Amino acid sequence: MPAIVLDGVSRLYGSNVRAVSDLSLEIPDGSFTTLLGPSGCGKTTTLRMIAGLDSPTYGTIRIGDKIAFSLEDATSLPPSKRGLGLVFQSYALWPHLTVAKNISFGLEVQKVGKAEIAQRLEKVAAALQIDQLLGRYTSELSGGQQQRVAIARVLIMEPSVLLLDEPLSNLDATLRMDMRAELKRLHNDTGATILYVTHDQLEALTMSTHIALLQNGELQQFAPPLDVYAQPANEFAADFLGNPRINLIEGRIEGGRILCGGLDLPLPDGVSSGESGPVKLGLRAEELRLHRQAGPGMVPVQVTSVLPTGSDWYYQVRLNAQTITIRQNDPPHLKEGEEVFLAAHPDTLKLFATSGKALVSSVPEVAGAEA
Ligand SMILES: Nc1ncnc2c1ncn2[C@@H]1O[C@H](COP(=O)(O)OP(=O)(O)OP(=O)(O)O)[C@@H](O)[C@H]1O
Ligand SMILES: [Mg+2]
Repeated sequence: MPAIVLDGVSRLYGSNVRAVSDLSLEIPDGSFTTLLGPSGCGKTTTLRMIAGLDSPTYGTIRIGDKIAFSLEDATSLPPSKRGLGLVFQSYALWPHLTVAKNISFGLEVQKVGKAEIAQRLEKVAAALQIDQLLGRYTSELSGGQQQRVAIARVLIMEPSVLLLDEPLSNLDATLRMDMRAELKRLHNDTGATILYVTHDQLEALTMSTHIALLQNGELQQFAPPLDVYAQPANEFAADFLGNPRINLIEGRIEGGRILCGGLDLPLPDGVSSGESGPVKLGLRAEELRLHRQAGPGMVPVQVTSVLPTGSDWYYQVRLNAQTITIRQNDPPHLKEGEEVFLAAHPDTLKLFATSGKALVSSVPEVAGAEA
């Protein structure tokens, strides 16, 4: 049984703000599902409706075998009856209690034994690297430390479903990397269902088992991260995931071939041979290559910029009056102004209709999801 099911959920504010629009989603039990999308796309609103802190204007929400919200059944379970652990973007810690007290308070209320509390506290504090801070007051902590205390306070309750809204946003880059690995490990160890909100595509790619990508309150794609990356359902999905951003170039299909600024490629599998007309090509930087020697299907280009990062070399060239970026990490390293040859592989190429929709017959989806 899925852990959480949203069926046709919408949240309207006033008459013209559609924060969430007809969202249907089945969050698999035990998954690490990320709600991903730009600021204002409806992530927090969705999480608040699942938690019971806000109510849908339309639609049904089920959590496990319970109906959490349904207008027809006049049901709206209070947050405390939904069996969820929550960490929100704005977390409130008690400033007059120590870190240890803040974290263990929930277990004390539940009358859990002292030894058990001490043991769980030690474990969770070590995992979140706050074991040195347990005696301090939370008013004496940095933002990042407070954020970790807020996470610890929820984790210690060992909830079977955990909702996390941008829980790592206040941490510096190194600590954020550590915490990502730690959250992923906690997910594996506990088997809990995690519903995680972020606007950071790298965070979503590295941690999740499933990504639900949102734009303007609408679901764009629901699939495992590498499937969204490799087979984006539309131009938005292709553009939102990946760094550097995918190269999107105007081209056309003619006589069963893809033509674009001198590139002439066969249609990839899954694209109907009857297609023709203008398309957009999606070419990821690491799926393109620059060669010093010409070869079949390659197009001559000039290197306009060379941007070494230490591990990778980013090159820019002009194709079809657009700048495109290529990532390579093996020598020979090219120089600015060099005349070279660009190769693209039809297998990894993404094609989008003028509507933005991917031109493939089957984009992988998680069963039961609608896009
Ligand atoms: N109480 C409210 N009244 C009116 N509009 C609201 C309200 N809460 C949210 N919205 C609007 O709903 C949309 C979705 O907001 P939401 O907070 O869910 O976005 P988000 O994806 O969490 O963004 P962020 O990444 O910035 O946190 C936004 O356009 C926001 O302005
Ligand atoms: Mg938000």
